[in-house]
Amino acid sequence: MPKHYITFRDLSPEEYSFLFTRTRKLKHERYTHHYSRPHLGGREVLMLFSKSSTRTRVSFECAINELKGHPISMNMGDSQWTRGEPLSHTARVLSRYVSAIVIRHDKEKDLVELAKWAQIPVINALTDEHHPCQVLADVFTLLENLNGKALEDQVVTWIGDGVNMANTWLEAAAVLGFGLHVACPEGYLPDKDILKQAMNDNPKIRLFNSPKEAAKGAFAITTDVVASMGFEAEREKRLNDFKDYKVTREIMALGKNDAIFLHCLPAHPGEEVEDEVLESAASVIFDEAENRLHVQKALLEYLIPVL
Ligand code: CP
Ligand code: NVA
Repeated sequence: MPKHYITFRDLSPEEYSFLFTRTRKLKHERYTHHYSRPHLGGREVLMLFSKSSTRTRVSFECAINELKGHPISMNMGDSQWTRGEPLSHTARVLSRYVSAIVIRHDKEKDLVELAKWAQIPVINALTDEHHPCQVLADVFTLLENLNGKALEDQVVTWIGDGVNMANTWLEAAAVLGFGLHVACPEGYLPDKDILKQAMNDNPKIRLFNSPKEAAKGAFAITTDVVASMGFEAEREKRLNDFKDYKVTREIMALGKNDAIFLHCLPAHPGEEVEDEVLESAASVIFDEAENRLHVQKALLEYLIPVL
């Protein structure tokens, strides 16, 4: 059975520890030009996307190339799947050609169906419910900034929309045991099952009405756009609903002295976060984006068996 990566819960704390150690090595090797083993050895990985992307698409293509594999990119609209070919057929056909499928698509149930039939790993590159590859990079970025302090002793604060990123942070806190403070406007809470399960698993996950209360003592403060992909029509309403949930310099000052700011990007400066925060010394957004490449190399190596 192939190992898939659909949600953050698909891997154990031990597997994350292994991946983060490997990521550190791969990142170091890239800086020192001591390239790692060519893990993919010419094999292909399919990149199947039905939504826009800059970081995910380019970082995965670079990761596959650097592991000496070949990325094949296909817009989902060009495939026979969107003309009604059963996913059970598509999955088994693709499994005869490529070594893994990296897929970005709104409907997570389609990924689950694809994974059920695929004989190769299926990797979630964002759905409406989850974005595990992003939070994998985010947690690695946290570790880089902790200078050896224990992750479990830290609090991450989520302010904003309870969308795919918030759901995934909840799962990450449940699996890895760090504190998570969540402040979302009324009507924009994370998925209720994900929230309930995560709060059962980790009592250090807490919900707040006030972003200021949520930010107190945080080591990292993070947010996301007010209107995610697919929600653009609600943008004006959301801008109003989220007006008290912006990450400001005042909010950042409530965190620890060395608190960092994370954002999966793309950001809308001035909407969910002040531009001054994005550009401040506390902001690690570009390291975070870079780390997508390094963690995804470790993930591809781990999920795709060596021939
Ligand atoms: N953070 C992220 O997934 O960015 P893209 O939408 O550009 O891939
Ligand atoms: N929540 C955002 C994340 C983008 C990387 C979206 O789904 O559009």
